[in-house]
Amino acid sequence: MMLAGAVLLGGCKEDPRSIVPGGEVRQGLRLVTQYQCGACHTIPGVQGAAGREGPALDHIGRLSYIAGGIPNQPANMLRWLRVPHAVKPGTEMPPMGLTEQEARHIAAFLYTLR
Ligand code: HEC
Repeated sequence: MMLAGAVLLGGCKEDPRSIVPGGEVRQGLRLVTQYQCGACHTIPGVQGAAGREGPALDHIGRLSYIAGGIPNQPANMLRWLRVPHAVKPGTEMPPMGLTEQEARHIAAFLYTLR
């Protein structure tokens, strides 16, 4: 249990939809499936998402940092999802071609994984 992450994101009872303005959890789940993030990530609740190239996303919603040192805040997550190289040069996470709106939905979904 990482308390800093829980406080940052408003605690366990907060409605995940409110964490990322404009993001809908169910749309995010659909998009994560559509974009096949599961080819590289293990993602609970996503059928066939058992990839091992990237970190498992089981508790991504309560991590204090993503990608080895980026504070796990919605704005950083949105940027990471759209342009990972801009956030962390040399990263092996590829840009997935997400729109801003798609990234919002996906982030809303990811923050339910605690
Ligand atoms: C080709 C493989 C690949 C694909 C496809 C991919 N990722 Fe990643 N992802 C990675 C790798 C590798 C990392 C670790 C990057 C680093 O730390 O530099 C990563 C890191 C992440 C992180 C940070 C995880 C952490 O614990 O720090 C998130 C969140 C993430 N990816 C979400 C996604 C989402 C959502 C998608 C689909 C839209 C996706 N990824 C598609 C390879 C991939």
